Amino acid sequence: MFAMVDLRSDTVTQPCAGMRRAMSDAEVGDDVLDGDPTTRRLEVRTAELLGTERALFFPTGTMANQAAVWVLSQRGTEILVHEDAHLVNWEMAGLAALAGVQVRCIRGAPRATPETLRAVVRDPSRDGSRATLLCLENTHAGSGGTVTPLAELLELSAFGRSLGMRVLLDGARLWNASAATGTHPSEFAATADLTMVSFSKGLGAPVGSALAGAGVLIDAAWEARKRFGGGMRQSGVLAAAALYGLEYNLQRLGQDHENARRFAAIVGQADDILVVPPTTNIVMIDLPSRLDAVQVAGSAQARGVRVGAWSRSRLRAVTHLDASTEAVEFAGTVVRDLLS
Ligand SMILES: Cc1ncc(COP(=O)(O)O)c(C=O)c1O
Repeated sequence: MFAMVDLRSDTVTQPCAGMRRAMSDAEVGDDVLDGDPTTRRLEVRTAELLGTERALFFPTGTMANQAAVWVLSQRGTEILVHEDAHLVNWEMAGLAALAGVQVRCIRGAPRATPETLRAVVRDPSRDGSRATLLCLENTHAGSGGTVTPLAELLELSAFGRSLGMRVLLDGARLWNASAATGTHPSEFAATADLTMVSFSKGLGAPVGSALAGAGVLIDAAWEARKRFGGGMRQSGVLAAAALYGLEYNLQRLGQDHENARRFAAIVGQADDILVVPPTTNIVMIDLPSRLDAVQVAGSAQARGVRVGAWSRSRLRAVTHLDASTEAVEFAGTVVRDLLS
């Protein structure tokens, strides 16, 4: 019925015809030399949505995160990050290699909470080392797209700041956190010094993220971006895709969340497995020891469904705009039958 339903990530989406048209029609300049008008429009729109003074377009969320850490932390100090954060697990030790900071992990599933943060904070007058940055992630991808509610984020951020830390919010899926809670993205962004948002996940753009914050921090982030090789020329071609995503795909994220719940309900019919109830677009499935996630993912692929093996005992499925409700239901049935 379906050629292949790919639920490995919400980054697998193909730019639709309208998005490709917007890219091909984009008015462009040289953004390193003297500016690109479409990139400027995207940055203004992003800053508006996040309620910040300015925003800066980046080719990837990873580069934006690393630039933010470069700007907000101090070399030779500690930064506090959850052990399952993207910054820790998927950014090639960039925190050490680029910003020269030591990571102190906030432990405990599913994400940083005021209690787990308090548990790792050290007293510089007694312990010597000092933390200069607190990194938070919302939604938290590693724990299954869980949302940190605004009240909790405010508490975390206020606690970090009371100890002299600056705050970075990795909001690669902040749009999903907003869609799930009704909290405006600007309210989340107000808890951080710099907020990273992505256009290449649920919004369907081929690449692109942004950092948003105060003008002086964005000036510093501009320098870091250039240093990291992220100065882009006719970037309006890419910014146009991001603008299209904001205009047409932001409003539909709730559908992905509904599809994730359907998928979870179907897979949850299999005996002996634990499906973590999704709050956004990511579903984690814990397998009993007799099953191997890599093998299950391989068998699912042979039946027309791609899911990720998050670990040996955990599968991950992510809903997105290229997977219709029918396709997601089909995928859920395939995975359920394999696990039964
Ligand atoms: C939470 C989070 N932060 C950052 C990133 C990095 O984004 P990019 O793939 O654009 O580098 C991702 C990518 O999946 C992510 O999930």
